Order: sequence, then structure tokens, then C-alpha cells
Amino acid sequence: MKPAPGKYAANGRTGAQRQTAGRPGFGIIKCVSAIWTTHTSDAAGTQAFAARIAPLLAAGDVLWLSGDLGSGKTTFTQGLGRALGIGQPIVSPTFVLIREYAGRLPLYHIDLYRLDNPREALNLGLRDYLDGDGVCVIEWAERFDSHGDLPGLHIHIEPQGDSGRRLDCGASGARAETLLAQITAN
Ligand SMILES: Nc1ncnc2c1ncn2[C@@H]1O[C@H](COP(=O)(O)OP(=O)(O)O)[C@@H](O)[C@H]1O
Ligand SMILES: [Mg+2]
Repeated sequence: MKPAPGKYAANGRTGAQRQTAGRPGFGIIKCVSAIWTTHTSDAAGTQAFAARIAPLLAAGDVLWLSGDLGSGKTTFTQGLGRALGIGQPIVSPTFVLIREYAGRLPLYHIDLYRLDNPREALNLGLRDYLDGDGVCVIEWAERFDSHGDLPGLHIHIEPQGDSGRRLDCGASGARAETLLAQITAN
């Protein structure tokens, strides 16, 4: 599938982006939308939140996950995958860059951790997945210098104590705005 020209090019900043860019815990994500925050108290809670998102997803949706090692990005993806009807275990794609799963929609689980230049990955095939027939979940979105400008739902996971997590959610682009509105309405 051919991507729309310039779809993933960095956009100019809007006033709203400037307002959200400096928010605590979310400073590196420059989403166009306001940030909506939820908290979970354990891994099952994070998976349950992901499972709420899964039925809302359609082909071509992209979820950009950020947060330190062990924050819960893969745990979130496991909850999402299960709710998409994927029976096999979802394991971290760190060493293979991408794992594909068949569910209600194909799930492309991508990990940018080991890439020296993630932006180059956009030119080398990642773009085809983003514009593809399934849902993309991308760990280590912060490896992009301006990932908040990339269309999709952005979720930053911030540990709070041992097993608490704060999940800051923002949207970039009209489709992600719709998704976020549905998530916050639930
Ligand atoms: N509220 C929580 N949400 C997500 N994971 C949690 C939570 N509390 C504890 N954990 C644990 O933290 C670890 C997160 O690991 P993982 O999902 O692999 O992180 P990442 O992919 O961000 O490096 C798991 O062992 C998980 O069980
Ligand atoms: Mg991981």
C-alpha cells in the first residue's frame, strides 16, 4: 500500500501542542490533542485498559507507546492482543524488530529500541506497516525525535511506585482524536 506523500513528515507546531508539550511526565510527546490520563494499580489493570481499546480499533490504526524499560509497554500490548483474539503469547519483539500476529485484525508489534535511526526505518518499510491492513503497536516511540507529530494514538506509561502506572494518552490526527474520544467516553 502506498503511503500518502508527507503523511509522516513532521508538522508545524500548533498552539495546542505548545500547551501540552511541557506537561509533567509527557514533555517528550507533542500531541495535537489534550492529554487524557488514567491510572492502573497492577499489570492486569494495564491489560484491562488495553482490552477496552481493542474493540475500537480498525485497520491502519497506530498506537505509539513510550516509557522506560519495564514500564509496561509489552504488558499493555499483551492485553490488546488478547482482546483482538490472538491466542498465542505475545512476547517482546526487541530482538526481531517486528512480530506479526493474526487476530480480528492483524497485529504488528514493533520495537524501536535497538534501532540506531528509527526515522530511517520509516523509509525502509515501517511506513508500509503503518499504512497497512492491521493495527501497529510501536514500543519506544520516544526514539523518534518528534513522535508526537506522527499520526496515531500516543500512550506514555509512567511507573508510580512498585506496580502503579500512570498512562498519559494523546492523539495526533483526526482518526486518533476519534479513538481517544471513544476511549474517554467509556
Ligand atoms: N500497573 C502495571 N502495568 C504494567 N506492568 C506492570 C504493572 N505493575 C507491574 N507491572 C510489571 O512491570 C513489568 C513491565 O514489563 P514490560 O511490559 O515488559 O515493560 P516494557 O515493555 O515497557 O519494557 C512486567 O513485569 C509487569 O508485570
Ligand atoms: Mg517491551
